[in-house]
Amino acid sequence: MSNTQFTPRRSCLYMPASNPRALEKAKTLPADTIIFDLEDAVAPEAKEEARKLACAALQSGEYGSRELVVRINSMDTPWFAQDLRQACLSQANAVLVPKILTADDIIQITDFMEDQDASLDIQLWAMIEMPEAIINLPQIAALASQRRLTTFVMGFNDLAKEMKAEHDRAIFAPVMIQAVIAARAYGLNILDSVYNDFSDPAGLERECLEARNVGFDGKTLIHPAQIETANRIFAPSAEKITEALAIIKAFKNPINAGKGAIVVDGKMTELLHLKQAKQTVALAEAIAAARH
Ligand code: COA
Ligand code: MG
Repeated sequence: MSNTQFTPRRSCLYMPASNPRALEKAKTLPADTIIFDLEDAVAPEAKEEARKLACAALQSGEYGSRELVVRINSMDTPWFAQDLRQACLSQANAVLVPKILTADDIIQITDFMEDQDASLDIQLWAMIEMPEAIINLPQIAALASQRRLTTFVMGFNDLAKEMKAEHDRAIFAPVMIQAVIAARAYGLNILDSVYNDFSDPAGLERECLEARNVGFDGKTLIHPAQIETANRIFAPSAEKITEALAIIKAFKNPINAGKGAIVVDGKMTELLHLKQAKQTVALAEAIAAARH
């Protein structure tokens, strides 16, 4: 598997693969990731056509440096096997499987992927949107080291429905923290759920800030109007980059050679901050290099 840690995933835009206008439009949008949806956004009678359109789009080579992901139908549907087979052969960077319940689901899916072609450089992304998946988070995340699982994607529309809860963001705060901890414990990337009201930029901004502050890498989106906000909030700020560069420079200074803790800009700074600073700079460089 290629290293996916510093691939920018600030803005991950879903689009119904059955919508040719959206497929066309996505080639011009500054989203880091495009998610071709075969699941919730596609009606049952349009599933086969959506799969064909998604595969053709993925093979077109017209989406520049954007990361390309196919969200297939869940394991309990009649479309699952064919969706997964075609996704594996499609040049997608990742396949996103909804309604994951257990670690065994990940094993079955990745076994199936190996059977298609074990040499394929395609990641598995898992939707965390079912109560069972929340209970099983550590076991699911632990498979990241042995399997091609790289990324969790939260799905709060489905989780609210399954919980019989009101879709009120505040109720998901504990789950967001739990999921980030499970993801980070095993080196997974993690993306926030969607914000349905795409005509409310202030609400979107609030959700992006909440997610960024608990450690999410980016947010999944449903409309082009949401991309700019997510790109801005999930990118390291100019201030953070300046601070990171100052930390890297200070640790390189010969007077600090061999020290674990030094003073930078009046603050105690340790080797763990140097590691963080290097990550910030690597992400900023990856964002600058992507330029879509
Ligand atoms: N990806 C790419 N392009 C999109 C898009 C998306 N998610 N959503 C809208 N667009 C395009 C439209 O095709 C339109 O393009 P045009 O200028 O070529 O006509 C333009 O952006 C403006 O769209 P707008 O008229 O504001 O929205 P709409 O009424 O056409 O669509 C939704 C609204 C919600 C139906 C649509 O945004 C959508 O399908 N979103 C994704 C839903 C989804 O994938 N859900 C599953 C995950 S939760
Ligand atoms: Mg769903």
